[in-house]
Amino acid sequence: MTGLAQDLLHRARTGGYAVGAFNMHNDETTQALLAAAESCAAPVFLQVGRAVIPHMGVRKAYEMTRRVVAESDAVHVIHLDHGSYQEVLEAIRLGFTSVMYDGAHLPFEENIATTRRLVSIAHDFGVAVEAELGRIPDADQPVEWSSYYTDIGEAQRFAAETGVDFLAISAGVVHGVPLSAPQPLAIDLITKIAEVVEAPLVLHGASGVPDSEITAAIAAGVHKLNADTDLRLAFRRGIEQVWAGGDGQLETAMAHGRELMVEAAIQKMTLYGCAGHAAE
Ligand code: G3H
Ligand code: 13P
Ligand code: ZN
Ligand code: NA
Repeated sequence: MTGLAQDLLHRARTGGYAVGAFNMHNDETTQALLAAAESCAAPVFLQVGRAVIPHMGVRKAYEMTRRVVAESDAVHVIHLDHGSYQEVLEAIRLGFTSVMYDGAHLPFEENIATTRRLVSIAHDFGVAVEAELGRIPDADQPVEWSSYYTDIGEAQRFAAETGVDFLAISAGVVHGVPLSAPQPLAIDLITKIAEVVEAPLVLHGASGVPDSEITAAIAAGVHKLNADTDLRLAFRRGIEQVWAGGDGQLETAMAHGRELMVEAAIQKMTLYGCAGHAAE
């Protein structure tokens, strides 16, 4: 059984674009992502991720997201980002239609076994599963890239043996925006992985990556792009601008944060090529 998440990414592959997957943090940020999606007719993944989960838990974040999407016409998927085994099970129970299980820290064989188990459970409920192979460092963390990149042979085996719907890979991206010059993306590596993996590829850490490299990654086979930091920073800029003007109201500040985040999300949807592809 395939659901909307799978359909969106298969259509993105056929159409040669990527769908944006952005993290929600509260009502206003969720509203901003949906408003951006509606305004440029883009489908969108609303991600419940590593910042919001310790703050309010998976269930509250899901309920908050559901409440906000009920007021929107945007084509959307509510997706668990970087979930643990238990969080993935909880998300499936709650009604998420797409989940990421992050077993990238596990030894390879264990990552395969655990991911395969979760895929089998998730598919019984029609839920799409993303998994990750290779490791994604935090911005400015010194790393030996060769040990972080996804291995092509492992990617082929992992995708075939787990049956994942989407595969997140490590090809030079970092979580967050680096202060120093970013590592260029390994576009050749993405091309080679796309040749041997049937599932659409996902690139995390899209904040801070130059536009030209995003475009090249999409052409190489990336069809879901995860971005968080750039959008959070846009929201924060809006708050700071209002407060710098002497208005101490939280509501005015959040409303302006939302405005700037809508603009930033529309820019990303346009760059990723998913704008205009909501209704297909
Ligand atoms: O993927 C993980 C979280 O979304 C954190 O990303 O680098 O923006 O804090 P961050
Ligand atoms: P950035 O914060 O670098 O955009 O990464 C977001 C991400 O990968 C969420 O899973
Ligand atoms: Zn990520
Ligand atoms: Na990044």
